[in-house]
Amino acid sequence: MNKRGLAANTQNELKISFPSLSINEGIARSAVAAFATQLDPTIDELADIKCAVSEAVTNCIVHAYRDCIGVITINLRICADNLLRMEIKDRGCGIPDVEAARVPLYTTDPAGERSGMGFAVMESFTDRMRVRSTVGKGTVVVLYKKLSCRE
Ligand SMILES: Nc1ncnc2c1ncn2[C@@H]1O[C@H](COP(=O)(O)OP(=O)(O)O)[C@@H](O)[C@H]1O
Ligand SMILES: [Mg+2]
Repeated sequence: MNKRGLAANTQNELKISFPSLSINEGIARSAVAAFATQLDPTIDELADIKCAVSEAVTNCIVHAYRDCIGVITINLRICADNLLRMEIKDRGCGIPDVEAARVPLYTTDPAGERSGMGFAVMESFTDRMRVRSTVGKGTVVVLYKKLSCRE
């Protein structure tokens, strides 16, 4: 903790938790965009952030809590050098093989409604993605986006 009560290397942070109702996907996306605004992002950067978060939250809603409603938690942090850290966490079913799940076009959706491109989108629209998951315990996706320093 530093003098302002923030974690080390952190300039600001926000934590939100909400039930995995589909209506909350759009609300979460807007909340993250509102938080990112303090870094003065370009329109493209903001679009990337919203898209990546939308994919992560949608995965919690449709995969993690497939047959139930559970809690989704988003932890946002502004680190040094205009780096935005976004952690999206669920306590749902977990992913048996994270490496396989990250491969583009991989999907376990039986209805064929999903493209299997969620992780690929998160990865390409951010600078770094980490995925940790335990079957029966849940999944944590951490996305890092470095924003351009504008005058
Ligand atoms: N939060 C999660 N909880 C459980 N399984 C997940 C989660 N996120 C992703 N997955 C698994 O990883 C697969 C790939 O995810 P993704 O790339 O977003 O494709 P899609 O959602 O279109 O299937 C999903 O089909 C699902 O099996
Ligand atoms: Mg997906």
